[in-house]
Amino acid sequence: DRRIKIAPSILSADFADFGREIRAVEEQGADWVHVDVMDGHFVPNLTFGPPAVKAFRPHVKGVMDVHLMIAPVDPYIEAYAEAGADLITAHVEAGPHVHRTLQAIRATGKKAGVALNPGTSLEAVEYVLDLCDLVLVMSVNPGFGGQKFIHSQVDKIARLRGMIGDRPIHIQVDGGVDANTAPLVAKAGADVLVAGSAVFRGGSVAQAEIYGGNIRAI
Ligand code: DX5
Ligand code: ZN
Repeated sequence: DRRIKIAPSILSADFADFGREIRAVEEQGADWVHVDVMDGHFVPNLTFGPPAVKAFRPHVKGVMDVHLMIAPVDPYIEAYAEAGADLITAHVEAGPHVHRTLQAIRATGKKAGVALNPGTSLEAVEYVLDLCDLVLVMSVNPGFGGQKFIHSQVDKIARLRGMIGDRPIHIQVDGGVDANTAPLVAKAGADVLVAGSAVFRGGSVAQAEIYGGNIRAI
């Protein structure tokens, strides 16, 4: 199977020391760093504006993957691209014009992703796959780390893998991913696994065995 990439979410990291936390996960083999942007409107939580993402940038050696849980999303795409995102993911539910949103992300020169909440069908992204480098399947209702994995999304991942075929589009899974659920989603066809609490809440990243040794146990 394609090499599985781990994208630790810094939403569960120590908010007083992001530099150290980012270095720690990258030293442990993380390929991507997942930055959860929340606006307190699209989701009931509030996190990082463009200035914060800009501050993270110099500490991230790998891919800085910015997950925008905001609505409207279009007015902020430029700012997050400027802040240094390598990949910007917008929610299909964030507004009526996801095709235009993905075009706008691509126009910044960044990679584009589209995210689906657990209740949203795959059909919602069928006509924008040609604009995507990644499809994010939420396996929790967005807003918080440490929630329980929603198992119905495993079937969605498998069907999405079929829909994508051999196109170079990542399937990213986000929410409740840990050593038990990671093999399920990888087998179904996911190749980028976001993990927040499984990586950071275990005390330190060294104590997190996520999948296939990507984030090694001590
Ligand atoms: C939730 C975020 C997820 C979250 C994952 O809205 O999009 O990235 O940080 O956290 P865990 O891995 O703890 O479920
Ligand atoms: Zn996320």
